[in-house]
Amino acid sequence: MMFPLAVLCIFYIWSQATPTGGLGSTPDAMPRKTVPASSNGGHLFREEGVWNYTTMLLREDFNMLILGAREAIFALDLDDITVKKAMVNWPVTRKEQNDCLYKGKDATNECRNYIRILHKRNDDRMYVCGTKAFIPTCDYMSYADGSLTLEGKQEDGKGKCPFDPFQRYTSEMVDGVLYSATSLNFRGSEPIMMRSSEESIRTEFSSTWLNEPNFIHMAHIREGESNPDGDDDKIYLFFSETAVEYDSYTKMDVSRVARVCKGDLGGQRTLQRKWTSFLKARLDCPVPNNNLPLLVQDVFHLCPGDWTTCMFYAVFTPQLDSSQYSAVCAYKIEDIKTVFSKGKFKAPVTVETSFVKWVMYSGDVPDPRPGACIDKHARDMGLTKTLDLPDKTLQFIKDKPLMDQAVTALGDKPLLVKRGPAFTRIVVSTATALDGTSHQVMFIGTKSGSVLKAVNYDGEMVIMEEIQLFGASEPVKILRLSNSKLYVGSNVGVVQLSINECGRYRTCLDCVLARDPYCGWDLSAGQCSTINGTHRTSTVIQSLSSGDASQCPQKDDSESVSISFFGGNTVKLWCQPYSNLAQVEWQLNGHPVKASNAFQILSDSLMIFNASADASGRYTCSSVEGNYKTQHVAYDLKMWSVSETTALLHNVKEKENTLVAMLVLLSLILAMLVIWNLYKGHFPSPFCHWRVKDTNNRREQSLPPEHKIASSTVNLNSNNNHVNNQRYSSSGETDRLATTIGSSGQVTLKYIDDESEI
Ligand SMILES: *[C@@H]1O[C@H](CO)[C@@H](O)[C@H](O)[C@H]1NC(C)=O
Ligand SMILES: *[C@@H]1O[C@H](CO)[C@@H](O)[C@H](O)[C@H]1NC(C)=O
Repeated sequence: MMFPLAVLCIFYIWSQATPTGGLGSTPDAMPRKTVPASSNGGHLFREEGVWNYTTMLLREDFNMLILGAREAIFALDLDDITVKKAMVNWPVTRKEQNDCLYKGKDATNECRNYIRILHKRNDDRMYVCGTKAFIPTCDYMSYADGSLTLEGKQEDGKGKCPFDPFQRYTSEMVDGVLYSATSLNFRGSEPIMMRSSEESIRTEFSSTWLNEPNFIHMAHIREGESNPDGDDDKIYLFFSETAVEYDSYTKMDVSRVARVCKGDLGGQRTLQRKWTSFLKARLDCPVPNNNLPLLVQDVFHLCPGDWTTCMFYAVFTPQLDSSQYSAVCAYKIEDIKTVFSKGKFKAPVTVETSFVKWVMYSGDVPDPRPGACIDKHARDMGLTKTLDLPDKTLQFIKDKPLMDQAVTALGDKPLLVKRGPAFTRIVVSTATALDGTSHQVMFIGTKSGSVLKAVNYDGEMVIMEEIQLFGASEPVKILRLSNSKLYVGSNVGVVQLSINECGRYRTCLDCVLARDPYCGWDLSAGQCSTINGTHRTSTVIQSLSSGDASQCPQKDDSESVSISFFGGNTVKLWCQPYSNLAQVEWQLNGHPVKASNAFQILSDSLMIFNASADASGRYTCSSVEGNYKTQHVAYDLKMWSVSETTALLHNVKEKENTLVAMLVLLSLILAMLVIWNLYKGHFPSPFCHWRVKDTNNRREQSLPPEHKIASSTVNLNSNNNHVNNQRYSSSGETDRLATTIGSSGQVTLKYIDDESEI
C-alpha cells in the first residue's frame, strides 16, 4: 500500500547524492563517483583556534601521526586521528612578533611560528623546525609518558626551514643528517640546497645552479647497497625554476630534477664545501596544446623492490592560470640516471654582447665525469673521496651543471590529464588484485579540497572517485599514506580516509564497474568487499581491465512508487544513478520519454510540466553504464481525484503509526487551505519543503540501498536551503528547483535517505 500523502504534494525520491556528469569533458577525465564531504566516512581532526595543518610525520613505531600546524604540534592516534594523544604549543614571543612586524610583515598571519620540518632522528627524538616570525628555528622533541616535549634548544634554522611561511621548501632526513632546500635569507632571494652536518655542504650561489627556484620534493634513494659499479646513494631534488634554455622574451619557468651524492664532501680548492655532484635536468610532462611547460607541484616515489624499481609520480599544473589542465607524469629512476650519467651537458655561450644562450656542449668532457659520485671507476683512478677530484672536473660542474637532455615521462605522455580544479599533491599505493596482479593507485589532492582516486590500466585512465573533504576554497596541502589509510591536511583540518572503502559500492554492478583493484563483489556475502589473500576467485567478481559485470546476479525489477498529482502542476521525479558515467533513460508505459514542452530530462530527475491526465502512467528510470542497464526506480503516476480522499481516510485507521496519522492530518489541513485559497481565487505561495522519513517497509525491500528510507520523524522545515550546504553542486540545483516549484504554488515533499540531510 502506498503512502497516501500524495494527494497534493509532489514526491521527491532522493537517491544517492552524487552530482552528475555530462559536463562534456572526455570520459576518462571524469570521476566515476563523487563522494560528498557529508558521507566520505573519514575522521576529521581540528583543534579550536589552530590552523595550517600542513606538516606530518608518520611514527608507525609509536602508532602515531605527528602533526605540525601553526604554533602547535600534535600526536594523534594513527588508527583514529580524532584521538589526540598529546599536544605541545610552540608560540612566538611578543618581542619576536613585534620585530617581525617592524620588518614589514603581517603580524596575524606571517609573524607566527609555522611548523615546517618534522623528522625522525636516529635516537628516539624528533627534529622540529618552525618559521618563528621570520627567524627560522629548530628544536628537538620527544614523546614519552603520553606527552610531547620540546627541549628548548633554539637551534638556528636558516637554510633548513624557510623564513616565509608561504614559500615552498623541502627536506629529508638521511641517516640522521638533514638535507634541505629552501632559501637562506629573510628576503627569500638566496636559494640553497644543503646538508647540515659537521661537513655541511651546499649549492653555489649562482643562477646557473638555482635560478629563482620553487622547491618541491626531496627523496633519498639507497642505491649504494646494491649498485654493481659501487655507485653511491643519491638525494634527488625536484623543483621548478626560471628557464635559461629557451629563446623567450618573457620569463618562463621549467620543472627540474637534480641530484647529489650522499658521500659528497665538496672539493679541495674549487667547490670547497659545495656539492661536486650537483647535476640538474629538465623534467618533461608533455600535454598536447600546451605551449608553456607545465610545472611540477608534488612528487611521490614508490620503490616496490630495490632501487632500480623506483618510480617518481609527479603532479603538474600550467604556469599560466588561463589553461586549466593538470597532469600526472611518472618517471623511471633508470631514465633519470641515464640522463645524468650518460647524457650530454649544456653550456652557456654569449651571443651578441650580453645575451647568454645555453646550447649543447660538444667539447671534451673530463675524466672522471663531472657530477659522478665516487664509484668503482673513480676508485680505480685512486680517487676515494670528492676532495680528491681534479680541478678540471670540478670547474666543469661549477659552470655547467645543466644536462642537455630532458628526462622524459614514462610512455612519453602523462598518465592522467584532467581539466578542473588544479592538482596539488599526490601519493601512490600498490594494490594487489584478485588475480594477483599489482596496480598503482594514485590519490591526488586538488585545489578545491578533494582527493581523486585513480588507476591506469594499460594506458587507460580510470578515475574511480572524487572524494570531497574540505571546502571548495581549501586546497589539499599535504598527503600521507600509512598501511591502508590516507591522511589529508589543509589549512583548516586533517582528514583520515580508508583507501579501500569498498562499502561505497552498493550493488554488484556498481562494485564491478568501479574497477577498483581493492574491491570485488563477494557473491556469498552479497556485498562489495576488500580483496585480501583469503578470497577465492570463484566467489568474488572483479574485472579491472574491462569492467565485465556479466557474472553479476540479475536483480529483480524494483517495485513501483505510486504518486498522485493535481492537474496542471509540475511534477518532479527523482532518479540519480550511482555513477557519473551512467546515462539515464526514462520510459513511460514502456516507451522512451523524449524531451519536449511537457518533459525535461535532467541528469538527476524528470520534470513533467503542466501535468494532465496524459501524464499518468508507469514511469521507469534506468541507468546505462557501458553495456549494463539497471532499473533504479518506477513510479505509477495518477491524477488525483476527489474519491481518493475517502480511501485515504480509510487507510489511516488501519495504521497504528501515529506518525502517519499526523502527516495525513497535516496534509489534509494543507489540502483544505489550498482548496479554500483556490476557491477564493488567490493562491498563496506556501514555500514549504517537507522532509520526511517514513516507515514503509515494502519500499525498503524493493528499492536498492541508495533509495532506502529509514524510520524517523517528520521534520517540517521551511528553510532547508542551508541544511546541506556541504553538499556538492547537485544539491544547490535541487534547492533552486524546489524553490521554483514552491513559488509556483505547491507544497513539496521530499523523501530522503541520507542521515546528514536532517
Ligand atoms: C593559515 O591558515 C589560515 C586560515 O585558513 C590562512 O588564512 C593562512 O593564509 C594560512 N597561512 C599559510 C602560511 O598558509
Ligand atoms: C578477508 O576477507 C574475508 C571475507 O570478506 C574476511 O572474513 C577475512 O577476515 C579477511 N581477512 C583479512 C586478513 O582481512
